[in-house]
Amino acid sequence: MKFFVDTADVEAIRELNDLGMVDGVTTNPSLILKSGRDILEVTKEICGIVSGPVSAEVVALTANEMIAEGRKLAAIAPNIAVKVPLTWDGLKACKTLTSEGHMVNVTLCFSANQALLAAKAGATYISPFIGRLDDINLDGLDLISEIRTIYDNYGFDTQILAASIRTANHVAQCAMIGADVMTAPPSVIKGLANHVLTDKGLEQFMKDWAKTGQKIL
Ligand code: G3P
Repeated sequence: MKFFVDTADVEAIRELNDLGMVDGVTTNPSLILKSGRDILEVTKEICGIVSGPVSAEVVALTANEMIAEGRKLAAIAPNIAVKVPLTWDGLKACKTLTSEGHMVNVTLCFSANQALLAAKAGATYISPFIGRLDDINLDGLDLISEIRTIYDNYGFDTQILAASIRTANHVAQCAMIGADVMTAPPSVIKGLANHVLTDKGLEQFMKDWAKTGQKIL
């Protein structure tokens, strides 16, 4: 499973990228706001750090305007994936932009039927939002399973990009189900290294090592 980092924080991207943990980046209007940066400027900087796909989201609501914004975003760098919302206009924009050779990430997906439409419109990525379904007492991971089954049943090439990932369990379960990609905030990715038994075991090793009176260096 590929790891995308869900942030427009350039330093956080750089740190994870240096460790080989970043196969791509996803951003959205809320993350651009959080960064306090200009969208074109920060997106260009991110594209210079990461060689994989960098999702940049349109903010228009009509297909023609989304297409125009998408073309402008795609001109930033060859690794831009234009992000469009899962609306009828977004699907039209997806069809046009993919036919022009651009990568398109269809976002704000909350149902298997929406994912089916995105695949038929030629989406490169579909972004089902797990955490936001969990927030309303549905199981976001069930949606990932449903989309995996549907895409496999019909051989769709659209990649499942599990988004709105909030927990380590979301990551492991997405990998078990077979999501192609997961995107998570840097804090969630770094948190994957944590385990209480690792901490406990290390503490015991340090205590026993001190008792040996030895040094390696
Ligand atoms: O990639 C989509 C993601 O940014 C949404 O996450 O936590 O705001 O639901 P969240």
